[in-house]
Amino acid sequence: MSAPAEPGASDGTTAQALVGEELWAHGDNVAEYANRELRPVEVLLLVRYRDVLSGRVLELGCGGGRLTGYLAEIGTVEAIDVSPAMVEYTNRRYPRTRCRQGDMRDLSAWESGSLDAIVAGANVLDVLDHAGRHAVLDELRRLLAPDGLLIFSAHNAGSKDSIPSPFGVVKSRNPARMARNVVLLPRRVGNRRRLRRFEQVEGDHAILNDEAHDFSILHYYIERDAQAAQLAEHGLKLVECLDLDGAVVAPGEHAPHTHELHYVARHGP
Ligand SMILES: C[S@@+](CC[C@H](N)C(=O)[O-])C[C@H]1O[C@@H](n2cnc3c(N)ncnc32)[C@H](O)[C@@H]1O
Repeated sequence: MSAPAEPGASDGTTAQALVGEELWAHGDNVAEYANRELRPVEVLLLVRYRDVLSGRVLELGCGGGRLTGYLAEIGTVEAIDVSPAMVEYTNRRYPRTRCRQGDMRDLSAWESGSLDAIVAGANVLDVLDHAGRHAVLDELRRLLAPDGLLIFSAHNAGSKDSIPSPFGVVKSRNPARMARNVVLLPRRVGNRRRLRRFEQVEGDHAILNDEAHDFSILHYYIERDAQAAQLAEHGLKLVECLDLDGAVVAPGEHAPHTHELHYVARHGP
């Protein structure tokens, strides 16, 4: 699937939102996400926050249920995903979960204070543009019970200098993978050419085209301290920030070694 010819509509819809919708709402990415592989930090978070996760949980953008299956072993899980194919697969594969098809920018079906935990793994909030992210963070605070937790990950702007070019991802020790990378190169270069002009580096965040889905998407990138400040704007207090291995990322650290950061937040100033 290729990105739309001219993302960035005159009605104010951002290029990021348009290419995201093209990829997720209209594409079929089930094969890529129908697995049960956890990052080390996710294992740690499932264990550390098992008590809260044993309550009422909402998972945003559950995909093929990579995390959902584990969450459903612990608590009562509902999920939402914009992709009909992902929803169909996850409901079939994990029947203890109820996954609804819908856009996480509309969570009006859930009551205020009704959730013990909201989980947004694999950087799903980063598909939203800046305005969408802020609106969703407001909603997440509304939905969380007073002691509830928001557990999510986001692309780390502190690692943005290591985002590869399409040529940087050709080499592989696996000959079959390398051959595939060569075949995909023209498509990746085309996507990169089309989308790089929509990249932006703003005060506290960046919108960047990265290697995901053959360079066909624009993601939100943010550093630890900026994310903590953004959470605070929405009445959420950072509990902890971890790298992919589960090591603490402390205030002031840019953590360039980790391309995603995992956050836990709760109600608070
Ligand atoms: C990177 S995948 C992550 C899947 C899963 N959370 C995981 O950890 O493997 C992003 C998921 O978010 C979904 N998604 C993208 N935009 C969405 C939106 N606006 N509302 C709900 N789901 C969305 C996609 O369909 C996809 O399943």
